Amino acid sequence: MAKVKSAYFCQSCGYETPKWLGKCPSCGEWNTFVEELIHKQVPQVVAFSKTKNTAKSTLLSNIKHQEHDRIKLSDLELNRVLGGGLVFGSLILFGGEPGIGKSTLLLQLAITSTDMKFLYVSGEESDQQIKMRSERIGRKNNDCYVLTETNIQNIFKQAESIQPTVLIIDSIQTLYSSEIESSPGSISQVKECTSQLLRYSKQTNVPVFLIGHITKEGSLAGPKVLEHMVDTVLQFEGDRNHVYRLLRSIKNRFGSTNELGIYEMVGTGLRQVENPSEILITNNDSSLSGISTAATMEGMRAMLIEVQALVSSAAYGTPQRSSTGFDGRRLNMLLAVMEKRCGFKLGSKDVFLNIAGGIKVDDPAIDLAVVAAVLSSNTDMAIEKHIALCAEVGLSGEVRPVNKIDQRISEAEKLGFKKIIVSKYNKGLAQKNFKIELVLCSKITEVVKALFA
Ligand code: TYD
Ligand code: MG
Repeated sequence: MAKVKSAYFCQSCGYETPKWLGKCPSCGEWNTFVEELIHKQVPQVVAFSKTKNTAKSTLLSNIKHQEHDRIKLSDLELNRVLGGGLVFGSLILFGGEPGIGKSTLLLQLAITSTDMKFLYVSGEESDQQIKMRSERIGRKNNDCYVLTETNIQNIFKQAESIQPTVLIIDSIQTLYSSEIESSPGSISQVKECTSQLLRYSKQTNVPVFLIGHITKEGSLAGPKVLEHMVDTVLQFEGDRNHVYRLLRSIKNRFGSTNELGIYEMVGTGLRQVENPSEILITNNDSSLSGISTAATMEGMRAMLIEVQALVSSAAYGTPQRSSTGFDGRRLNMLLAVMEKRCGFKLGSKDVFLNIAGGIKVDDPAIDLAVVAAVLSSNTDMAIEKHIALCAEVGLSGEVRPVNKIDQRISEAEKLGFKKIIVSKYNKGLAQKNFKIELVLCSKITEVVKALFA
């Protein structure tokens, strides 16, 4: 007979203590401890990379390099965010706010992939609801099994008999293991179920997607510990009132974390947006002041984004500086450079900056476009529509080169831009390789001349 014991768990980070505490010593949150019953005989998490025998150390140079086998999914955006496909035996946590489209995306993945067997386990919706949703999306895959179950042992029984290629769990917060007495969604249940799923995926080599909810504060509900246990953490974000959704990877053991997937929510599910520039650049015919276009990179992909600025005289003593999607401190730095090196008096002006489309950019290559948008709004002179900008701006007002410049220029060319302003110091840049006109500048004063003269 297993011995029952109780302990207090922080619902925010999973910290365990025998006594109730007001403040969590690990994450500093207040009032997050909840008593949960635990059995003494909780199965130990086994380290799967090791064989049953005691492991021997090996020279790093003697270890053979093995490419991870990857499943190529029907969803190209998801493939890319995962680092080139789904790795066998990986455990992927898929987080996002309620209603953002997590269930839709993964159900869509299951029913649009062919030649693969999917088991979609839902603890949140009934068979009928899932059927209705799948009919909206349009069903193609005949090998998609649906299970509405929340007991993890029953799920494993089904998985054993169906032997799916990919297992999807919607959501981890609804699962429970009968070995533990606390309620579904509590830290110990979530931890235990995740560790059992981890064991399942490593032993059977079946990749598992775990949907997880996100709290108001934006962290994965419940435990940070989950993020440590899984191989990959994906986050699905976007404004519920906007149609665009961004898929980011926050942690990825099998690829880089700077890839971004973009989707549009339409009546028939989520549409992959292959050409992000199409949504990030507005196509108004009249030229407006305060708008410039930057060629930026998200991961391996070049795209053009619109930078909008509004400069107005400060109504109150201290001028306001506010930026959305761009680092506020960097904006202040660029404003100081404009003031000192170009003589624009911005010290008494309110400056608002916005990156269109609700995305966040931390690529220094958009500096020049920020400068251009601010100057354009300040002088109320529009920048011609067919001009793109792409360079970093230094403290002395110099226009600095950026990486992957060829790719950025090609993207601007592809989208029909006629001119692109870049740094003179980019290496190996030749006009003859491009149809688009290259305007080479070394200082921002030259850029001002090229734009507004
Ligand atoms: P859902 O996948 O249920 O969100 P989550 O699982 O993250 O909580 O998404 C629900 C929203 O998506 C809902 O508000 C309706 C919308 N939606 C569409 O706009 N088109 C569709 O084809 C589908 C299936 C959903
Ligand atoms: Mg859902």
